[in-house]
Amino acid sequence: MKPKVLVTRKIFNEALDYLEDRVDYEIGAREGELTKQNLLKKVEDKQGILSLLVDTIDREVIDAAPQLRIIANCAVGYDNIDTDYARKKGILVTNTPGVLTETTADLTWALILSVARRIPQADVFARAKMYLGWELDLYLGREVTGKCLGIIGMGRIGKAVASRARAFRMKVVYNEPQRLPEEEEVRYQASWSSLEELLRTSDIVTLHTSLTPETTHLISADRLKLMKKEAILVNVSRGPIVDERALAEALAKRTIWAAGLDVYEREPEIEERLLALDNVVLLPHIGSATFETRIRMATMAAKNLVQGLTGKRPDNLI
Ligand code: DGY
Repeated sequence: MKPKVLVTRKIFNEALDYLEDRVDYEIGAREGELTKQNLLKKVEDKQGILSLLVDTIDREVIDAAPQLRIIANCAVGYDNIDTDYARKKGILVTNTPGVLTETTADLTWALILSVARRIPQADVFARAKMYLGWELDLYLGREVTGKCLGIIGMGRIGKAVASRARAFRMKVVYNEPQRLPEEEEVRYQASWSSLEELLRTSDIVTLHTSLTPETTHLISADRLKLMKKEAILVNVSRGPIVDERALAEALAKRTIWAAGLDVYEREPEIEERLLALDNVVLLPHIGSATFETRIRMATMAAKNLVQGLTGKRPDNLI
């Protein structure tokens, strides 16, 4: 008999085709919400779950699935899963690293440039037929070339962002609890900095760290105060790393110049004050959203799942 699997939401056919012959899958929600109540019910007889980052797989869900052997998350981040509890119960957890690195770094740069050059605001202005003629000071932005880029979290994505910074002849500083080996610092032309110093000296600060209890509100009201008045903050990692209310306050008071956000503290809710501000660019968590990457992520999650269910060590075991 094929193992029973819950695929929490509709995923790409490429991944479903792979699962088709190998497992007996049920899709939790083809459209709309998968409520907690439905999730709890649907996992009762499942040996595997293929989850998305919007699915909270906590103790309650894990306990509701007595036959559960693997949770394959279709995301590189896995803060939506109680991994400690899963480990305690001998349940494997996997993620999808690597396949979204370049795409997310591209989006980070798209966001940096959009914020620095005020592209979304200028687009709205042009569409509203407000462009009445060239002006010397129309939509002035901030230069990126030659500036200092501060990268908080120098993992795969942080490094891919650093590589692209070379094209802009930027000085790159990074913060990580563990300093990179010297040859990597040379390869990425990046030097380690304390968090405080990075915030004080960078013109653009970009966040690429994972969400843990230690990184929650890493960018607090006090740390925002360390940033330059002309600085830009970009977050393409996880929302709760930034104290969103404090950020809205800093942007409103112009103690920092602007921000670009792809993720939010209480997703999908966006802090009301941010919505009203002109110096922030807001995206709906699309860091890895290209056809190619999202299909790769879903297929990778499906493969991890099948590996775990057939007694193999999954490629991307956490
Ligand atoms: C992830 O994978 O963790 C991203 O946030 C979504 O691509």
